[in-house]
Amino acid sequence: MTARPKVIVALENGPLLVDGPVVWRDAAGHERRVSGKRVALCRCGASSNKPFCDGTHKQIGFQAPAGQVLLPDGA
Ligand code: FES
Repeated sequence: MTARPKVIVALENGPLLVDGPVVWRDAAGHERRVSGKRVALCRCGASSNKPFCDGTHKQIGFQAPAGQVLLPDGA
């Protein structure tokens, strides 16, 4: 089975979307499995639930362009 490349999608004025499931590992090495089909990561810095988006970007008027990054297989 060949691993599919991961795509990170930056929504205009919003979070980064990554196809799930993902494993979040913090600086202390603690892991948290996130099983959703899509995971929204905060890029405005204002979420109360970092690293995940909680919608606060709309309230603060965060502005950033849309785009996407394609990570190589196994990344
Ligand atoms: S991008 Fe949504 S709260 Fe930061």
